[in-house]
Amino acid sequence: MRIGVLSSGGDCPGINATIRGVGKTAVAYYGMDVIGICDGFQGLLNREFIPLDDKSLSGLLSLGGTILGTSREKPFKKLLDGDDTKPQIIIDNYNKLGLDCLVCIGGNGTQKTAYKVSQLGLNVIGIPKTIDNDVYGTDVTFGFNSAVDIATEAIDRLHSTASSHKRVMVIELMGHKAGWITLYAGMAGGADVILLPELGCDISKVNKAILNRAKKDKPYSIVAVGEGLELSGSGGKSSSRVSRLSKLIEDGTGLETRETILGYVQRGGSPSAFDRNLATRLGGHATELIAKGQFGRMVALLDDKITSVPLEKVAGKLKLVTPDHDLIVQGKRMGISFGV
Ligand code: F6P
Repeated sequence: MRIGVLSSGGDCPGINATIRGVGKTAVAYYGMDVIGICDGFQGLLNREFIPLDDKSLSGLLSLGGTILGTSREKPFKKLLDGDDTKPQIIIDNYNKLGLDCLVCIGGNGTQKTAYKVSQLGLNVIGIPKTIDNDVYGTDVTFGFNSAVDIATEAIDRLHSTASSHKRVMVIELMGHKAGWITLYAGMAGGADVILLPELGCDISKVNKAILNRAKKDKPYSIVAVGEGLELSGSGGKSSSRVSRLSKLIEDGTGLETRETILGYVQRGGSPSAFDRNLATRLGGHATELIAKGQFGRMVALLDDKITSVPLEKVAGKLKLVTPDHDLIVQGKRMGISFGV
């Protein structure tokens, strides 16, 4: 068999470990041929690929980013001029490359595209990846654990400067519309206020929580905020969300505030040990599915077991934080404000 592997969407720690997991299992255990498609679906449209063999699959486990490159190309989204030729190009190139299966490593958008490719009659396997942890159908995505570690360390470092200067430190964390990184790093980093896109925020409650701490002789606070939080009624549209939030806090509490946007640091660099092992397990299982001819599925971690779900059940859905999450329930009992 000959399989093609691509990575698509934003990069994250653990993609190379996954390519290694798929490739080494395919080559060494199943005797398959493996090629890497460059730059996600862009490379499939342009038929750009590199062979992956034992040598090129070595040294990847701890390497950040993706050796294949990535893009946000969405071949099923019609271009403005109505160009809908891309699906046929994909079929043609899949056949010209002699593929028996296409492995798509990516987040929500990629899994949706993978499903559409499978509907063209091609053999596809999806592997979920994203720091955001918002892929439906799996308990966790690789990249998330690494991002939470990085974000937690950043919050840890803000504590000492916050208390020394008696300031409110507002830190914005990635996650798109999902608050997973903000919740997990906020709780692990001991944030005093955690604001999730899923819950929204009432600024008067945020300010009340910060003033309550000041009354207890703690005139410093850490506010962790998810990048997807919508702030209403806080003018100055040109300023960033975190700046507007900081101003609302400073105006409402009289305390000095400072802001930090952690940004792409969260998805760069080497994967954590957890993510390396998750990537290896998912990659190996993807190859097993291919060997068994079980296509049109996304590999997943459910209840600590590696399994798979039909791409059809994943496509177009998001996994968001719900208000009954244990960390929110326990956090509230401990006096942490979620701004609602
Ligand atoms: O999906 C991962 C992610 O890092 C999000 O957290 C963030 O909103 C987005 O990608 C940023 O994407 P881009 O690489 O297009 O700037």
